[in-house]
Amino acid sequence: MIRIAIFGFGAVGRGVARVLMNRQRLERIIGDYRVVAVADSKGSVVSDSVNLKEVLEIKERRGKLPEGMTVKEIIEEVEFDVALELTPTNIETGEPGLTHIKECLKKGSHVITSNKGPLVVAYRELSGLAERNGVKLLFEATVGGAMPVIKLIKRDLAGNEIESIKGILNGTCNYILSRMEEERLPYEMILAEAKELGIAEANESYDVEGIDSAAKLVILANALMGMNVSLKDVEVLGITEITPEAFEIALEKGYTIRLISEVSEGNLKVGPRLVSLNNPLCVHGTLNAVLIKTDLAGDVFVIGKGAGSLETASAVVSDLIDLYSCR
Ligand code: HSE
Repeated sequence: MIRIAIFGFGAVGRGVARVLMNRQRLERIIGDYRVVAVADSKGSVVSDSVNLKEVLEIKERRGKLPEGMTVKEIIEEVEFDVALELTPTNIETGEPGLTHIKECLKKGSHVITSNKGPLVVAYRELSGLAERNGVKLLFEATVGGAMPVIKLIKRDLAGNEIESIKGILNGTCNYILSRMEEERLPYEMILAEAKELGIAEANESYDVEGIDSAAKLVILANALMGMNVSLKDVEVLGITEITPEAFEIALEKGYTIRLISEVSEGNLKVGPRLVSLNNPLCVHGTLNAVLIKTDLAGDVFVIGKGAGSLETASAVVSDLIDLYSCR
């Protein structure tokens, strides 16, 4: 029996809960499982087997979970095998996710997270802690939403030297830029729509100033390319200065504009770039896309939905299956 605790019950947490409710989908792969705790920033529900349907209804009706144990108390007092740490990203401090993850790993629980902050702030420390405690820290959902990239590189491209990764890592910016390309509207107008779609960060300046992309690049560099870099090592320029007129000029010459992130030895950059309309990186809407250059497999290109509740839940659940399907 796998006992699961869910910390964070925003769009991603609720998406995960919806997938977990579909027991037929998961049970035949990972065996019997139960959710033993669900917590948001205001409260929690803790039980031997939490009724996810009821908890989703409460959250929808009241906007928050009932007063109850805090995440700290749950970690200290409730037995669980794996924590799904899905609280919002704070790129400066990593909190509260950083403390949640550390305490769960120390306690001997596996952690699956969609939260970029803790990994950006303390990847080495957290991966060391997981190793020393004989548990796993999995984080497919932190980069590219539903687009497979972390397990793809770690597992399917295992044995390859990753020479560079280059592409689109922010769904909000891609949505804004592709709408600017199609309709020549100023970026502020489209940002409001992206926020309504629920894909932008709680602090949307993370998206439009390129910080969210830079954070993802740091995760890729440290976790997949053996680097030891932090946010300050990334040269970052966002999309706030891009005008509808810039698209006119680019399109006349057969190009569009996309926010491109790139990492290779000694080079970590995020910024708006001209991209040929024929380039596979010229994707639209909330799609993410990356070109991975390797020494053995050559070029590998992936594309997928970079944000969204069920899309990000797909990555979280893929980690859960990864953790438990080979037992
Ligand atoms: N705000 C992020 C994006 C969410 O737009 O890509 C997924 O990390």
